[in-house]
Amino acid sequence: MPDVIDASDRSAVVRAAELILDGGIVAFPTETVYGLGALASSDRAIGRVYAAKGRPSSNPLIAHVADRASAAIFAEFDERADRLAEKFWPGPLTLVLPLKVPSAISMVMSAGLSTVAVRVPAHPVARALLGAVELPVAAPSANRSGHVSPTTAAHVAGEFGNEVSLVLDGGSCEVGVESTVVDLSDPDRVRLLRPGAIDRQALERLIGPLCAPAADGPVRAPGMMLRHYSPDTAIRLDATSVDADEALLAFGPKPLEGAATALNLSEAGNLDEAASRLYGMMRQLDQSRARCIAVMPVPAHGLGEAINDRLRRAAIADGKASAA
Ligand code: TXA
Ligand code: MG
Repeated sequence: MPDVIDASDRSAVVRAAELILDGGIVAFPTETVYGLGALASSDRAIGRVYAAKGRPSSNPLIAHVADRASAAIFAEFDERADRLAEKFWPGPLTLVLPLKVPSAISMVMSAGLSTVAVRVPAHPVARALLGAVELPVAAPSANRSGHVSPTTAAHVAGEFGNEVSLVLDGGSCEVGVESTVVDLSDPDRVRLLRPGAIDRQALERLIGPLCAPAADGPVRAPGMMLRHYSPDTAIRLDATSVDADEALLAFGPKPLEGAATALNLSEAGNLDEAASRLYGMMRQLDQSRARCIAVMPVPAHGLGEAINDRLRRAAIADGKASAA
């Protein structure tokens, strides 16, 4: 298992930054999920991240930076991108923008595309780390490709060996689902590639209607019905009854009765609370040895779009193509 150290100690962040600058991989907390950080300019370091995750090399990573000015060094901002960055950064929004040429971003990180995904995280540990590295840090979610994303340092440590140099422990992630990914690279069609922590309505109020991902887009992973975020136990969605040999993932004040074991995403029916608990509870129920995890319906509005997206992909049966 990799070393796990308390991120509230300033020397821990300095050590993490040195390891990244040296080509190592460091897991760190963001407000959404833990990320697996490596220097975005280093083909070798990025290659190690793909190998550690078992991620297909065709699926590009997000470059994390401290602020918009650092992003503008390698990504082209138009007026809408500026408006989104102004309103939501730092925060859980990722923008896909044209990649400037030449740039220091590794072609391995961007999967050779003419676009790049950028994000300015809000978590104080992520900000301190990016401030200390002073260069873009690629950071996919710190899980093996296709598995449930990690929201605690213990989740990360349980998935990796010493290919990860260090895990910075910043406690539980507050939001609990990944950033929203918006593709602004085609000015005629702004696309919501991945529903996430910033909900569609908040984005559409600012820049107008968002299109679905292109069926023939350069990256097939986000927005597509690929298996992803999956525990080993089978998942059954929209449960209105539950069997004695099933585990229940409930939502709301009236959980179904009769399951072998049950956890409630939010007794109060609060979607923010449900998102923050989703991955941790999926992991817990996965260990219950139940035949199947039955999931009660979760409303689709607000953060519910992201929660339902993750649940649908988690429920796709094993054997289908997966991506990180
Ligand atoms: O909340 C998050 O975004 C977390 C934390 C660690 O920041 N990171 C994360 O990274 O979720 P990852 O690699 O698990 O997901 C990144 C998503 C993938 O679906 C990838 O296909 C998409 O962003 N992506 C990256 N670059 C892209 C590009 N140039 N065009 C389209 N999609 C892109
Ligand atoms: Mg991921």
